[in-house]
Amino acid sequence: MRIFIDSADVDEIKRIVELGFVSGVTTNPTLISKTGREPKEIYYELAQMVEHVSAEVVSEDAESMVKEALEYSSIHPNIVVKLPMTNDGLKALKILKDKGVRVNVTLIFSPSQALIAARAGADFVSPFIGRIDDIGYYGMDLIKQVSQIFTLHDISTQIIAASIRHPVHFVEAALSGAHIATVPPAVIWKLLKHPLTDIGLEKFLSDWKKSMGVNV
Ligand code: G3P
Repeated sequence: MRIFIDSADVDEIKRIVELGFVSGVTTNPTLISKTGREPKEIYYELAQMVEHVSAEVVSEDAESMVKEALEYSSIHPNIVVKLPMTNDGLKALKILKDKGVRVNVTLIFSPSQALIAARAGADFVSPFIGRIDDIGYYGMDLIKQVSQIFTLHDISTQIIAASIRHPVHFVEAALSGAHIATVPPAVIWKLLKHPLTDIGLEKFLSDWKKSMGVNV
């Protein structure tokens, strides 16, 4: 499973990308609006750092979605256009695929939506785990079912596990067959830490210093 960052905060993304394990960033209109910045500038800066930047359209009809998508994809080859799983989103997907634009279909909440988006040509689908948990169902089942369907029918569309809220979601997404997890920075920082790592390092260093005669 590859690891993407789910954020539009360029400074924080840069600090994480420097650690070397991230290959993409996903944004959405909510994340972009929190920055107060011009979206295209953000997409351009992020596309210099990672090989995949999902930029989501905010238009609602197919024709305007295509226009907006073409603007975003012309910013940098690493931009992947994000379209919502609506009828207009599917229409726009077909037109964009014919023009060679890479597309991530978002707001996927059922296996049938994922299969349809894949058959319509999506390069990526983004099933939302946490929002399904929020309404009292087990979101991870969606990742398992989509993964099973894509494997059974030899579908190459990649599954991006989205709406990840905590470290257990991350691990279960990997075990459930997600190709990618897109993870908010707050969760990424938690994934890096383990108390036994800190305790172990402290002991190694104090033993080393003692043996070298350094006061600890
Ligand atoms: O990638 C989609 C993600 O940003 C949604 O997360 O926590 O708002 O459900 P959340």
